[in-house]
Amino acid sequence: MSKVTLTVIKADVGGFVGHSSVHPKLLEKAKECLLRSDLLEDFHVTHVGDDINLIMTHYHGVDYESVHQLAWETFKNCTEVAKELKLYGAGQDLLKDAFSGNIKGLGPGVAEMEFEERKSEPVIVYMADKTEPGAWNFPLYKIFADPFNTIGLVIDPKMHDGFRFEVHDLIESKRIFFDAPEELYDLLIFIGAPGRFCIKSIFSKNTGDIAATSSTQRLNIMAGRYVGKDDPVCIVRCQSGLPAVGEAVEPFANPHLVSGWMRGSHTGPLMPVSVDQSNPTRFDGPPRVVGLGFQLANGKLIGPQDFFADPSYDKAREMANDIANYLRRLGPFEPHRLHLDEMEYTTMPQVMAKLKDRFVDINDQGEVAAGID
Ligand code: 13P
Ligand code: 13P
Ligand code: MG
Ligand code: MG
Repeated sequence: MSKVTLTVIKADVGGFVGHSSVHPKLLEKAKECLLRSDLLEDFHVTHVGDDINLIMTHYHGVDYESVHQLAWETFKNCTEVAKELKLYGAGQDLLKDAFSGNIKGLGPGVAEMEFEERKSEPVIVYMADKTEPGAWNFPLYKIFADPFNTIGLVIDPKMHDGFRFEVHDLIESKRIFFDAPEELYDLLIFIGAPGRFCIKSIFSKNTGDIAATSSTQRLNIMAGRYVGKDDPVCIVRCQSGLPAVGEAVEPFANPHLVSGWMRGSHTGPLMPVSVDQSNPTRFDGPPRVVGLGFQLANGKLIGPQDFFADPSYDKAREMANDIANYLRRLGPFEPHRLHLDEMEYTTMPQVMAKLKDRFVDINDQGEVAAGID
């Protein structure tokens, strides 16, 4: 049996209404496009907030040009529908006019992995809106390196050796591997800065198998201008020497703070929700995460199981709402508003230019009211 590839590609090609959700006609169009292709073994089209997610299985390996092109053309077709309906930011994430070999670098986010399908193959696809790829650092660390989250690291002989983390520096375009638990403190100094360092993939040290992978595209860096946040996706394989499903969903019970709320320029709690609840509303948020579980069966996606629809996440949502209330009271002040160098757009250069003559050296002994007419 050849190895199966699980490919998740996402893009925001128009919001309904504003940046809150995806219009059902776009999801229909996406399904129609994927159905027409004979490249895929199976697929599931869904959304988180205003991002369309194409969850696809096939036998062509990662970075396969025709699969990437299929996703690109699907998003192009959805953009046409978005334009007809005058949806907000139609075509927002499609930075280039034409497809050129690989969808990475063209705007959409990609997470994909190729592996031998096991006797039973439970996988979870996480998808987030109003945040950035580094948002996965905290939960991935908890799932794969924290014994207080994942008891399997302590009591499962197949997990006891730990995991290998591939970390990307998104600013310098470099990558490095860390072994956990041996190098936990070295790992944490980097992934604790999620605006720059992202966990790309995680491998079992016991088998060498891939256990998790995420999308790490940063739109604003690629485009050189504000084009929305990078609303990332992540795939986690579970059970039998990998974290149990329950261990993989556990970190989301404690909503951590992520960047990307309102105009991509605010910090907020990552609220775990069902697909139906994944429409960021209050102040365009708070940021959302959806977790869909599938059993793979000979390449077919059996599911989804919408994990955060479960009442055991009610308290997490309540906590996220409390945190959101607290942060909103800070209005335009940091740390609710992001630091100057992390904001997606700002009026600072214009305001600075307008006032430049009114800035004088702190040591100049001028009149208190100098400069005021
Ligand atoms: P497996 O060892 O079969 O993955 O199951 C672990 C478990 O009991 C989940 O809680
Ligand atoms: P998206 O990145 O989800 O399009 O949101 C952009 C935004 O500015 C929301 O306030
Ligand atoms: Mg949007
Ligand atoms: Mg979005």
